[in-house]
Amino acid sequence: MEYSVKSSAATALKTACLVVGVYQDGEFEPAISHLDKTAQGELKRRLGSHFDGETASTRLSGGIPDLRIERILFVGLGHRSQCNTLTVRKAATAAIKALLNMGVGEAVSLLAELPVKDADSERLARAVLEASEQALYRFDRMKSKPGKKPRLKRLTLLVASRSAVNAAKRGLATGTGIARGVTCARDLGNLPSNVCTPSYLAGEARKLARKYPALKVQVLGEAEMKRLGMGALLGVARGSHQPPRLIIFEYSGGRRGEQPIALVGKGVTFDAGGISLKSAARMDEMKFDMCGAAGVFGTLVAACELKLPINLVGLTPAVENLPGGNATKPGDILTSLSGQTIEVINTDAEGRLVLGDALTYVARFKPRTVVDIATLTGACVVALGPHASGLMSHDDKLAASLLSAGERAGDRAWRLPLWEDYQPELKSNFADFANLGGREGGAITAGCFLSRFTKDLHWAHLDIAGSAWLTGADKGATGRPVPLLVEWLLEQSGQS
Ligand code: BES
Ligand code: MN
Ligand code: ZN
Repeated sequence: MEYSVKSSAATALKTACLVVGVYQDGEFEPAISHLDKTAQGELKRRLGSHFDGETASTRLSGGIPDLRIERILFVGLGHRSQCNTLTVRKAATAAIKALLNMGVGEAVSLLAELPVKDADSERLARAVLEASEQALYRFDRMKSKPGKKPRLKRLTLLVASRSAVNAAKRGLATGTGIARGVTCARDLGNLPSNVCTPSYLAGEARKLARKYPALKVQVLGEAEMKRLGMGALLGVARGSHQPPRLIIFEYSGGRRGEQPIALVGKGVTFDAGGISLKSAARMDEMKFDMCGAAGVFGTLVAACELKLPINLVGLTPAVENLPGGNATKPGDILTSLSGQTIEVINTDAEGRLVLGDALTYVARFKPRTVVDIATLTGACVVALGPHASGLMSHDDKLAASLLSAGERAGDRAWRLPLWEDYQPELKSNFADFANLGGREGGAITAGCFLSRFTKDLHWAHLDIAGSAWLTGADKGATGRPVPLLVEWLLEQSGQS
């Protein structure tokens, strides 16, 4: 969709639909304070008294012919004192859904002009664009006939002043880069595992490197990984006919020689559990087990689009976890790239195995910080549900910066501890340690497992098992945590 910004009086407006935010108390000023008195009076009359302004509820009313406004869409903003950027994101999503239903080709929105405490016009315009693109997203490339193209083509953000116009334009530019990254992550996540194999991901990575000059890609195959000694990663890949791939991105936007930030994403293109086979219910959703890798792809796309002045390494170990005659079996012992041996108690705890080797490998890039991203544990879904990603780190400052980036980006994480107390869970009688702790605190013992491969790194772990995709009627990849990571990288590169 096309987005633009303008600041003009109501008399100069002409639109099929004006989107107006309304608080719970029935007030909508000062959102429209820059519109003239006539317009305000007319809007009040159209709103009437039967709209309670609940966040993201909508109400359509007739237009104001004198002002060339064909219709008005009121969108609830909840309580005025609690209205923040997240509210605006929700309202923008609801507005797009309503506009799509109405079948209008264009609309003018006042949502980027709200006096919220936590954002200016730049941030609000960015939030409206990101939320709108999220709401417009469709995945129909696997349908035999593509879906009907929506009529909605243009959204104009109305702001109060000249300076707000420039700020909002900057916000739209940033939002566009982020939205492209999110869309990339959603597309990869939504593809079925018979299309999106480890080799397919490697091919998509090469395509990105051809598209963006600042991006380089290298792909390691099975032979190379054997030579290096990646026994943990290869131990997972054994059960599948799909060969594993280690995809290595290098993005150079910063000074030459500047230490990179590294992102490591779990890329299990399908997780059947291996010999410790999962049950059938909702197993289809295990095609999403590469959403960590998709998050790395998407974040790098956004970095390229926004030309972030920073160096990045993106590492995605890509494998398929299936049972098979050659598969790793419970009780088998693998020797990881780090030299540490691992007793595989449960072949379904495979993410930590592939990440262990990838985290060992990433040290050769001498990264200043490493963040891994993984749909790692069902326990994290139980703990946090779909609303927050689980964050673990030994470093309080790093954890705080990621948490606040998630807050600003509307893509929140919540911290779980990584205390030593949990480490004994991983004890093995036969190898250095096991790949499984008890049922309790499962997200944390998984984090503890990873910590055994990151002792020399400045590192944080994001468990996105609950946030990376939605289930039920809205089943599909969310593109998270791309917004969190890009916001964090904007800050790390001095751009936020
Ligand atoms: N990919 C799964 C985690 C997962 C499960 C994400 C359900 C989202 C929904 C991971 O590989 C896995 O199977 N984890 C096991 C670990 C267990 C065997 C220790 C789990 O969470 O059940
Ligand atoms: Mn698993
Ligand atoms: Zn998995």
